[in-house]
Amino acid sequence: MEKTHKIIIDNDAGGDDAMAIFLALLYEKHYNGPKLIALTTGNGNTDEDKVFINNQRILKVAKRQDVPIYRGSKSSLVKTPKVGFYYGHDGLGDIGEELTDLVPAQTENAVNALVKLSEIHKDELSVITIGTLTNVALAMKLDPGFIDRIGHLYIGAGFIRDEENNEAEFNAHMDVEAYQVVVQNAKPDKVTFVPFSQVKKHLNLSREWRETVLGAIDTDIIRHQNLYEQVSLKVSDRWQALDPAVVAAVVKQDLVDEYKYSKHGIILCGDKRGFNTNTFVSKNDANARIIYSLREEEYKQFLLDVFNADRSKLDTSTKCVDC
Ligand SMILES: *[C@@H]1O[C@H](CO)[C@@H](O)[C@H](O)[C@H]1NC(C)=O
Repeated sequence: MEKTHKIIIDNDAGGDDAMAIFLALLYEKHYNGPKLIALTTGNGNTDEDKVFINNQRILKVAKRQDVPIYRGSKSSLVKTPKVGFYYGHDGLGDIGEELTDLVPAQTENAVNALVKLSEIHKDELSVITIGTLTNVALAMKLDPGFIDRIGHLYIGAGFIRDEENNEAEFNAHMDVEAYQVVVQNAKPDKVTFVPFSQVKKHLNLSREWRETVLGAIDTDIIRHQNLYEQVSLKVSDRWQALDPAVVAAVVKQDLVDEYKYSKHGIILCGDKRGFNTNTFVSKNDANARIIYSLREEEYKQFLLDVFNADRSKLDTSTKCVDC
C-alpha cells in the first residue's frame, strides 16, 4: 500500500466537494489522517472564478485558511461544456454567504503546483481529483515524471456502464480529452478510479438519512454543509454523493469492499462521446484500478464519526469555559 501522508484535493466545488474537503480536514484533525497540503481548482459545478471563492469559503468555515489554494483551468482542453449548477449557480447553494478576510490564492497556478509538490513530497503525496480532469492531464503532459513521483492518483469520475448509467458521467463529460490523456498515462499501481455508478449503487443513501441524521449534527461545519446542499437535496429522495465517498475511500481504505483492475477508457467521438469503456482484466493487462464496491453501513458510520468528532471537541471546550 502506498504511503498517503499528504493529499491534494483537485476540485470544482461544488456542494459535494465541500463535504469532501471538510471530511478530509476533520479526519486529519481528529484521526491523525493525511495532511491536506493544497487545494487546486477547476471549472465544473460552476465557473472556476466561483469555484475559487468557494474554496476560500470552505477553508474559512473549517478554520483552515493555512491550506494554500492554487487556481487551475478555467476551461476544458478542447471543448468546454456548460458548467453544472447542480448545487446552485454559485456552486454552494446560492445562500448569499459573504465571508470577509478570505485568503488570496497562491500566485503559482494549479498545474505547476501539482508538479512542484510532487517533487517536494515525492512518494508521499496522493492527489485526489473530484472535478474535471483538466489540471491533472496538464500536469501529466507538462511533466511525464509526475505520475511516478506521486504515491497515488485517485479520480472520482466516470461510470462502469450498465443500463442505469448508459451515458457520460458529469466529471468525465466536462473534459473528455483530459480524461483520455489521464487514461493514456495511467498505471494500475498508480491510478484508481472511483466511478460514480459504483457509488450510486453501493452508497445509495436516502435524503432522509442525509437530512435527519447526518444533517442533524450540531456543528458549524454541518450547518454550512446543509445550506451548501440546499438546492441539490431537493432534486432526489436519494443522496448519492461521489466526492465525499472518494475522499473517504482514500483516507480509510477499509471502506472499500472490492477493487478490480480494468482496461479503462473513454469514447471521444460520435454520439457516445464521454461514455466510458471498461474491460476487467488482470493487473498486468490493466491501466487502472477501479473501486468496484464500498461498504455502506461502515461509510455511514464513518461520516457520523468524523463529523461528530468536531462536536465532541466543541463540547469539551465549552465545558472548560463554563468551569
Ligand atoms: C437506490 O435505492 C432506491 C430505493 O431503495 C432504489 O429504487 C434505486 O434503484 C437504488 N439505486 C441504485 C443505483 O441501486
